[in-house]
Amino acid sequence: MVDVYEAVKSRRAVRAFTDREVPREVLERVLSAAAWSPSGSNIQPWRIYVVTGAPLAELKKRAGERVAAVDPWDEREYEMYPADLKNPYRERRSTFGRERYSALGVAREDWEARQRAAAGNWQCFGAPAALFCYIDRDMGRPQWADLGMYLQTVMLLLRAEGLHSCPQMAWSVYRATVAEIVSPPDGLILFCGMSIGFEDTTGNYVRTGRAPLEETVTFVEGPVASSHAA
Ligand SMILES: Cc1cc2nc3c(=O)[nH]c(=O)nc-3n(C[C@H](O)[C@H](O)[C@H](O)COP(=O)(O)O)c2cc1C
Repeated sequence: MVDVYEAVKSRRAVRAFTDREVPREVLERVLSAAAWSPSGSNIQPWRIYVVTGAPLAELKKRAGERVAAVDPWDEREYEMYPADLKNPYRERRSTFGRERYSALGVAREDWEARQRAAAGNWQCFGAPAALFCYIDRDMGRPQWADLGMYLQTVMLLLRAEGLHSCPQMAWSVYRATVAEIVSPPDGLILFCGMSIGFEDTTGNYVRTGRAPLEETVTFVEGPVASSHAA
């Protein structure tokens, strides 16, 4: 059994998968367990579509055609990042970009190569399984946070099964193509996709870093200062 710390540390956004199939019963086991994720008032706002086999092949084909045709992205239903991303977030984002493209040997100014690498998103980086996570349009920020908890639970459970994943907001800009395949009811927003499969270990990758604990965590302890001047 994979220890929780091990699952957390070995989970990373894998962007190269083999075509080895992911058994349906494994996906069912993972998603049944992930259903125990917490959500405010237990409303369980996630709506998940799992796509494999011929429908996934068709989705990749249609997405590939859009990439080849330089088809404009679908109108955004949510902003991925604030338009004016402040520091330290802006700096972290550019560090990530540098790491991601240097692992692929792609120069920062090589726009075409970067586009090609990004296009791997819409082939699920070769993965034979994907899930798509929707949420009701009426839901607010706390329910979107619930989705995050759910999706991380899925990704950790996938580690327990020897599988890897990559969460992908990139699918939100091809949401119309995803909708052609999964036919979601009206009123849902596609938050993200997630590629799922066995890692292709022949590729290069750079492990992303993390900010030091003091940058993101504050321990509040010790005697409480009196609010009244003596
Ligand atoms: C909600 C969400 C959406 C993401 N969307 C994408 C995506 O569209 N494409 C991609 O390659 N990675 C995507 N990622 C992966 C992040 O880039 C990655 O988690 C981050 O850089 C930290 O790296 P690590 O997951 O390998 O530790 C996404 C991650 C999250 C949580």
